[in-house]
Amino acid sequence: MSPEVRRAAEILKRGGLVGFPTETVYGLGADASSAQAVSRLYAAKRRPVDHPVIVHFADSDLAFCWARDVPEAAKKLAAKFWPGPLTLILKKSAKAGDFVTGGQDTVGLRVPSHQVAQKLLRAFGGGIAAPSANRFGQLSPTTAAHVREDLGKDVELVLDGGPSEVGIESTIVDLSGGEPVLLRPGRISAADLEAVLGSPVLAKQIDSPRHSGGLERHYAPRTPARLVPTHELDQEIARLKDKVAVLAFSRPDERVDYWLRMPREPQAYAQKLYAVLRELDSAQCEIILIEAPPEAPEWAGVRDRLERATG
Ligand code: TXA
Ligand code: MG
Repeated sequence: MSPEVRRAAEILKRGGLVGFPTETVYGLGADASSAQAVSRLYAAKRRPVDHPVIVHFADSDLAFCWARDVPEAAKKLAAKFWPGPLTLILKKSAKAGDFVTGGQDTVGLRVPSHQVAQKLLRAFGGGIAAPSANRFGQLSPTTAAHVREDLGKDVELVLDGGPSEVGIESTIVDLSGGEPVLLRPGRISAADLEAVLGSPVLAKQIDSPRHSGGLERHYAPRTPARLVPTHELDQEIARLKDKVAVLAFSRPDERVDYWLRMPREPQAYAQKLYAVLRELDSAQCEIILIEAPPEAPEWAGVRDRLERATG
């Protein structure tokens, strides 16, 4: 084990906070069984205390100890997608304190695949509570540098595992009720889940358990941002008198001060998304125009984050 990972595990054991890479985004980790450590985590994130946090484990056996009821559907999804970018919401066991569940009767569980996350989880042994390592409501970090920029001295150590491969947060499925409900789309799509379950996955209902990613404006840059359909982009640019930044599929337009071009493939787009939004946010423009991605199902995760960023 690397000395850095050992140090990170020691920090967690004494109630401190550690930034670490996962395949989706960087997490800010705390000992999930310590109320004090988790309250420090919420303070660093400036996150309201009634929002539940995902608990990470090295494998599914450890994860399922935190659930009192593990339905067949959860076992199937875990067998197929763990370790990987999927979070399961299950009825909590006594191990999951109110301070990680936001007082709800359910808990969010995830087994990440990133090698550094895996090593940290093995070295630590228990569950690591980890929201994305940014301040509440802002863009998730996909590099170690993003974490340091966002959290500064509030995080003792940041493990560097390179840029996150998926780039957007894990898919969240609620299996605590009768039917599986998709709470947050991600790299793993509703169709991927349905293929494994052999039954439909419902879209999010209004009365689903509270989750902070469900707030309308979330994952958002500070600069006002707007989604624009492809056929309106040109006239929008012509109409605006402000200094404009654009995120688009097509080539740069010379009227625009700051233009970033995005891949036409959804996984490549997702991987870059938060880094480019950070870049556009720091370009000191008055507005960010974002060309709307296709309506196709494989774009659901990206569309969801863009809708929130422009909420
Ligand atoms: O990819 C990810 O999931 C990243 C990495 C670090 O693992 N984590 C992440 O955490 O995105 P966070 O806290 O930023 O978002 C987790 C979402 C939140 O919206 C949270 O409220 C929701 O999961 N969540 C956690 N437990 C829940 C529960 N019991 N019921 C409903 N939603 C829950
Ligand atoms: Mg987050």
